[in-house]
Amino acid sequence: MITLTFIEPSGASRYIQAAIGESIMHAATAAGVAGIAAECGGACMCATCHCLVVEAPDAGLPEMSETERDVLEFTSDEMQETSRLTCQIPVADTMDGTVFKVVGR
Ligand code: FES
Repeated sequence: MITLTFIEPSGASRYIQAAIGESIMHAATAAGVAGIAAECGGACMCATCHCLVVEAPDAGLPEMSETERDVLEFTSDEMQETSRLTCQIPVADTMDGTVFKVVGR
């Protein structure tokens, strides 16, 4: 297990435990993080799991796939340089301490 931080739309910080191999989105929704609707269930179609990476450890996150980029560009209204779809990122032990800001409402 690793610890991730989510800054919810209200500005509140949530610290959650995530299991290696599950998606960041799944870990967040299971912990009740506000603002992550995950309407497509992790199929990379809805962009309602959109978060900004505020702080990442040195190992960083895996590269964004072309599909993830397309969904962010065409579905999300607020794509930024640090945008990611959290359903597309499997939790790895190198991600301990990563901080995400939830884009949803
Ligand atoms: S849950 Fe739909 S794109 Fe991530």
